[in-house]
Amino acid sequence: APSYEFIKVEKVGEKKNVGLITLNRPKALNALCNGLMTEVSNIIEDFEKDNSVAAIVITGSEKAFAAGADIKEMQNNTYSKCISGNFLSHWNRVADCTKPVIAAVNGYALGGGCELAMMCDIIYAGETAKFGQPEILLGTIPGAGGSQRLPRYVGKSKAMEIVLTGDQVNAVEAEKMGLVSKIFPVGELVSRAIKLGEKIGKNSPLIVSMAKESVNTAYETTLAEGLHFEKRTFHGTFATKDRMEGMTAFVEKRPANFTNE
Ligand code: CAA
Repeated sequence: APSYEFIKVEKVGEKKNVGLITLNRPKALNALCNGLMTEVSNIIEDFEKDNSVAAIVITGSEKAFAAGADIKEMQNNTYSKCISGNFLSHWNRVADCTKPVIAAVNGYALGGGCELAMMCDIIYAGETAKFGQPEILLGTIPGAGGSQRLPRYVGKSKAMEIVLTGDQVNAVEAEKMGLVSKIFPVGELVSRAIKLGEKIGKNSPLIVSMAKESVNTAYETTLAEGLHFEKRTFHGTFATKDRMEGMTAFVEKRPANFTNE
């Protein structure tokens, strides 16, 4: 098994079908240095290929999910280096994952940390979670989706306030604005996120990935295009054995036995 410097990786849950990624750079509050995000991209790739993995949970420590991109690493970056290396572009591997990804956020999710959480499909927060896009305080702007995903998730006025002031929002505010789906006590958060992964994992992985892609299309296209995509994808489920099994099981009043075909 590959070893990691900046993350911990396990398969958890009763059936060991949830891939757990724990960001593990405690001295830097999980600042997302290039090496850390490369490890995250690689394990996302591995979990995606691993048929035993139904869902993925990304978490950090109780103090910090992640305090942002690594400021020390980028302090002396230049425009030309950003362009030639397409700085931060590999982060998008998380958003591109075909399997469901749940962010379990305790403590700080700032800058790139908030953006990483927003690349996930569902955000669960611990009571102490704090979200923010403080890039403006550093003389820069969000660079991994903060100015694009945040307004789509919480609307323009809230997003603009967060991006232009750098103010943090707590878990309750984040839930109220729709950024977070549920809040849990700090010590329960990760196990509740794993339970969510297990619950999703009872469904057909094939159909789950079609549903995920369809919801994501709502964020990436117009309503007309999205409705068309959804309709054709819905029609597409009729080409699968799992759709037939799901409806037949309902009619026969028995649990469905999905085979991912
Ligand atoms: N990058 C590099 N190092 C960081 C870091 C970051 N984003 N955030 C924290 N650290 C380091 C600190 O430098 C410190 O290291 P040293 O002990 O070597 O000095 C260590 O982590 C602990 O941090 P603090 O002493 O600051 O801890 P605190 O509890 O007093 O404060 C905090 C916590 C409010 C989160 C504060 O650390 C902070 O403001 N961090 C920066 C947050 C930020 O601006 N994030 C945005 C980054 S830019 C970005 O993300 C761009 C993008 O869009 C992708």
